[in-house]
Amino acid sequence: SAEQQLNNIKITITAGPTREAIDPVRYISNHSSGKMGFALAQAAAAMGAQVTLISGPVQLATPAGVTRIDVTTAEQMLEAALAQATQNDIFIGCAAVADYRVAQVASEKMKKTASDSIELKLVKNPDIIAAVAALTVQRPFTVGFAAETQNVVQYAKDKLTRKKLDLICANDVSGTELGFNSDHNAVTLVWQHGEQALPAQPKADLAKAIMQHIYAQFSAN
Ligand code: C5P
Repeated sequence: SAEQQLNNIKITITAGPTREAIDPVRYISNHSSGKMGFALAQAAAAMGAQVTLISGPVQLATPAGVTRIDVTTAEQMLEAALAQATQNDIFIGCAAVADYRVAQVASEKMKKTASDSIELKLVKNPDIIAAVAALTVQRPFTVGFAAETQNVVQYAKDKLTRKKLDLICANDVSGTELGFNSDHNAVTLVWQHGEQALPAQPKADLAKAIMQHIYAQFSAN
């Protein structure tokens, strides 16, 4: 049945932010709630898939039937993602991975100094989804997300090509109603030879629609 159309399909999903330590009590992160990734995990599991959810620090319950791996940093998320990816049919990168981490994490709490400014040196984090998409053996069908405030579809197409993704879910985050932390969202799915707009709706409904389109493209591949 349509309800169980993902039977025997293995899917890994990354969700939430990553958190990059500055010292034992401070960190750099972002406002990702993890809601979209968790909604996708829930929808995929309800459709019969075997779902592994790799999550950064979020305040969300694990959807029923989903295997959850908790991570903190981008480097930990990369390690977990690569370990899962080759055992899966579909990989969905929904996490808001920190682009940079602190070059040298202080082992003790940093003290306030007399100086009015201090500098933190940041180094680039690995691109997790690009690493998965670059796999040459056992490469899963790879789906990314793109949050943009302008030229949404064009930037998403560029990202699709640059990261060698099979499909990308483009998200317009210029409004405050949708996207980050919201319970509603709208996306445009973009692939090499087509696109499909999905209108604003509750994230749970959108997640089902996205999973159905991902499966259709995965099957067509
Ligand atoms: O380049 P940008 O961050 O906009 O790309 C977003 C997509 O790439 C998302 O699918 C996100 O999960 C993924 N990503 C990643 N690792 C990074 C940065 C982004 O997997 N370091």
